[in-house]
Amino acid sequence: MKTFLATLFLFAATLSAADLSGNWVIAQPQNDGTSRNTYLNLKQDGQRITGTIRVTQFFYKINDSTGGPETYILQASLMDGHNERRTSYTVRLAGDELHVTTPGRGGAPGPDMVAHRAPAGEGAYPARIELPALHKVPANGLAKTPPMGWNSWNKFHGRVDDAAVRGIADAMASNGMKGAGYVYVNIDDTWEGERDSAGVIHSNKKFPDMKALADYVHSKGLKLGIYSSPGPNTCAGYEGSYGHEQQDAKTWAAWGIDYVKYDWCSARNLYTDEEMQAVYQKMGDALHAAGRPIVYSLCQYGRADVWKWGPEVSGNLWRTTGDISDRWQSMLGIFDKQNVLATYAAPGHWNDPDMLEIGNGGMTDTEYRAHMSLWSILAAPLLAGNDLRDMPPSIMEILTNREVIAIDQDPLGKQAARLSQSGDQEIWVRDLAGGAKAIVLFNRGGDTTKMTLKYADAGVKNISKIRDLWAHQDVPASGAEFSANVPSHGVVMLRLSE
Ligand code: GLA
Repeated sequence: MKTFLATLFLFAATLSAADLSGNWVIAQPQNDGTSRNTYLNLKQDGQRITGTIRVTQFFYKINDSTGGPETYILQASLMDGHNERRTSYTVRLAGDELHVTTPGRGGAPGPDMVAHRAPAGEGAYPARIELPALHKVPANGLAKTPPMGWNSWNKFHGRVDDAAVRGIADAMASNGMKGAGYVYVNIDDTWEGERDSAGVIHSNKKFPDMKALADYVHSKGLKLGIYSSPGPNTCAGYEGSYGHEQQDAKTWAAWGIDYVKYDWCSARNLYTDEEMQAVYQKMGDALHAAGRPIVYSLCQYGRADVWKWGPEVSGNLWRTTGDISDRWQSMLGIFDKQNVLATYAAPGHWNDPDMLEIGNGGMTDTEYRAHMSLWSILAAPLLAGNDLRDMPPSIMEILTNREVIAIDQDPLGKQAARLSQSGDQEIWVRDLAGGAKAIVLFNRGGDTTKMTLKYADAGVKNISKIRDLWAHQDVPASGAEFSANVPSHGVVMLRLSE
């Protein structure tokens, strides 16, 4: 009898439980005048909930629900290239509000968020636009050597604004960075505002006047870069260029933009990795049609063998991996993926192992010297990622070592390859214009270690000059080999000429 009553009670509770069906929005207003909106479009059928969840760059489908009648756990996933991404949302109805939590860091529940009912259709995911046939986009003739400059993301993330960019441009123009070759001042994600009724993109409150900002940066003898995504949203959930490629390229050209980083992000919800080339071709065509010289930076985390087709879409650089962070292991993990890509770098188009972390505080100066040396021997773009308005002399010295930068910018444009590896010690060699070679003796181990380079192994027969690029000294060019004690996590970098 007791069981019967309990069942009856549960049945009645289920019947009376309010229905979660409908469109729900969690609106998170930002201090830039935009709002990060998360949409849960739910359909309840008894104790089962289906539907979709749209959050920043992700559009999930709900596959399964458990719990009820009060609290439900929604299991959702999406296909991201060849991998499935999963998430789970816990939802509880309380009157007119839906209380939502997602697993936070380490699996602990994240903060309680409140969703309200939204009109049907609001936040609906746009339909897929079919892609054009592949063709070659004319090369833009830019980036004959790897681009050099600064990018806001690593240090500022969403905190970048007009004042910060002006301050960085002022610093760059006056502190020796510009003199050393750094020229692009690149605004990453979070500058985007809304589109107007004609579909024209506007910057948000943090950037009151992009044209004026570009004029200011240009007045310093520098160039201005911007960021977008081929998807409906950028990675941070801001407005992307989806369906507005030509319009956005024209707007950027009219503002005076000189560099565009184009980040896959939410395009993952509409296109497969195999379709990436066509997606990036659209913006390549749009930039070409816009008629302004604009460096085209492809950011899609090294997927779909981008190095094989990047030049076809007029890409000047392409990311080879996921995001760097300011840790030795992150820098090393990225570095270890570069050797196999050496043959794809050439004047006009470069492998991009991501922006520099030098000066952000998570590595030692020795490690930052290694970071600078390795990126330079790889012919990587050198985009400083620290606060250039406020950096100690030791960091300034690393970023502006002109002898190391000259290796990065060598006009032959050849990326280094690993010459040898023995335990934690590696020797890298890069061909330079005029038959010279750059060498990095790299000690990734925990102790200072003596390393030896046999000149014959590096392919240099009659050496007339050896230069130590960090000591800024010539080394006597006698004998058949060079030896040095290389510090833990450090390098010795040389230039050998015949
Ligand atoms: C991605 C990119 C980063 C940065 C962020 C901005 O993660 O790989 O370099 O642009 O997006 O949201």
